[in-house]
Amino acid sequence: MRRNHYILICALSLTLWVFVSHYIFLGRTNFDFSTNSENVDKKLNELSADINSELELHDSMIENLQQNIIAKRREKEKAEHERMQVVINNEKFHYSNSAIPVVVIACNRVSISRCLDMLIKHRPSVEKFPIIVSQDCNHEATTNVIKSYQNQVHLIQQPDQSEISVPPKEKKFKGYFKIARHYGWALNQTFYEFNFNSAIIIEDDLDIAPDFYEYFLGTYPLLKNDPSLWCVSAWNDNGKPNLIDTRSPELLYRTDFFPGLGWMLTKDLWDEISTKWPRSYWDDWIRQPEQRKDRSCIRPEVSRTRTFGKIGVSNGMYFDKHLKFIHLNSEFVPFTKLNLTYLLRENYDVEYVKLVYSLPTVTYEELKMNTIQHNGAVRIAYYTKDQFRRNAKFLGLMDDFRSGVPRTGYRGIVSFIFNSRRVFLAPHPSWRGYDPTW
Ligand SMILES: *[C@@H]1O[C@H](CO)[C@@H](O)[C@H](O)[C@H]1NC(C)=O
Ligand SMILES: *[C@@H]1O[C@H](CO)[C@@H](O)[C@H](O)[C@H]1NC(C)=O
Repeated sequence: MRRNHYILICALSLTLWVFVSHYIFLGRTNFDFSTNSENVDKKLNELSADINSELELHDSMIENLQQNIIAKRREKEKAEHERMQVVINNEKFHYSNSAIPVVVIACNRVSISRCLDMLIKHRPSVEKFPIIVSQDCNHEATTNVIKSYQNQVHLIQQPDQSEISVPPKEKKFKGYFKIARHYGWALNQTFYEFNFNSAIIIEDDLDIAPDFYEYFLGTYPLLKNDPSLWCVSAWNDNGKPNLIDTRSPELLYRTDFFPGLGWMLTKDLWDEISTKWPRSYWDDWIRQPEQRKDRSCIRPEVSRTRTFGKIGVSNGMYFDKHLKFIHLNSEFVPFTKLNLTYLLRENYDVEYVKLVYSLPTVTYEELKMNTIQHNGAVRIAYYTKDQFRRNAKFLGLMDDFRSGVPRTGYRGIVSFIFNSRRVFLAPHPSWRGYDPTW
């Protein structure tokens, strides 16, 4: 600021000096050449033309200077506005102010390279999507794999490796206690040490779709603007190929069931839940009504993540029976260019609910026998927990509940494909809320 003024004053003084010196010169010439009036006129005209052109030159110089100064100031303001400095492991980095870090939760799986390779391959911008690998366990071989990525990722390591006291009955679930401690620490680092405003959390055994980043970028404004949303997830719990419409990769839903497995949250949510973060089973804890507070997540028809890890804390059977069949999207959808306002609660709760309850109801038997006369979407009604479970089993859907919410459910409604037909498994139209005892 001060320096800019100084330059301006210098430029003005210079102009003034040129102006004054020419007048003095003009005055002198008047005396010296007064004998020949024709000559004098000619000289005067020449001189005044000189002065004018010099003045113009200086005017344009000053204008240039001013424009330069303004441009420099704007640039600086813009840079300050759009970049943030982050100190990680005592080193300074600069990221976009709207950066969404991808926090990879790691422990002792060297196969994390498969996950990191994909994250780096599909990453559209380093400034916008810093990758932070948070490692628990101090497993050296895994640390070395992560370090081999050098400055493409930031490695942070959970310092508290102390034994965790676990109630005797839960001894075999000790891993879940360690995971909860690690998540809590990693998210605290992300939001309170590094000061990011939002983050995408994934685990080290996930593949990602080519439009993984685009999906989160496109849905970010929804998460930011709709207080009834608290997460965006890349995962469809019923995402097996025969249960989804793979030709509709752009299709998104709201769900009351927290899916995890590649999910985005804001710092505001972390502010709210970090102080009461549980010692274990954090994902089922977060699904409880006290935490969820009737909020929903966005989830896709076709998953943007797929787990490749068989060995983990949760047993391999779940992987073999279910997880490994989830279909990973392969087509890039330009979510940031799509109109996603249909997902805002005020629109969705009118349009989606109206659509579902305007459909003809059928039974599972009719669906299976293919005796329905038309090709359009239908609804299967359920009224009790057992009815839901029985139908879900028949249809190949996940049949479990958490805090009364079925997987992928929104207002109790589960959407899926059966024999190429869109079907909604839906409760009574006068549904009034989940029953946590289900
Ligand atoms: C995160 O940091 C806050 C503030 O320092 C602290 O109260 C909280 O216990 C920490 N949470 C976890 C899960 O580490
Ligand atoms: C987005 O879609 C909604 C309908 O869901 C429509 O009312 C709105 O005008 C659209 N916005 C734009 C910018 O096209």
